[in-house]
Amino acid sequence: MKINIKIALILALAAGPASAQTADVSILASTCSGCHGANANGSGGIPGLRSQQQIYLADQLKAFKAGSRPATVMNRLAKGYTDEEIAGLAVHFSRLR
Ligand code: HEC
Repeated sequence: MKINIKIALILALAAGPASAQTADVSILASTCSGCHGANANGSGGIPGLRSQQQIYLADQLKAFKAGSRPATVMNRLAKGYTDEEIAGLAVHFSRLR
């Protein structure tokens, strides 16, 4: 599990700059699945994102980015995303059924 999280983190960070240019939400969202599960249902102790409220998801990502919500990895990850990308990710996961 520890190794998987490290690999996923590296992949997610590596995907950051490239996907920021394409701004394709489905590509951004695919980097989340290593930790949050292939169907975004959560895995291990990591919460699911699927079908959560759009506003809640966006608020959490902004809080991670701002450092106002304590976290282990999301505080570092969220810094790599613009507010527009965060909004897009929140829409994407809230619409997954
Ligand atoms: C390296 C593993 C990892 C990756 C990759 C990852 N997450 Fe997370 N995520 C976590 C963990 C662990 C938590 C619990 C908070 C913490 O400790 O950072 C979390 C929490 C969250 C939460 C809060 C959920 C809740 O119910 O409060 C949101 C929203 C979230 N992640 C969104 C994302 C999105 C969107 C992506 C892809 C851009 C992503 N995460 C990628 C590990 C990851």
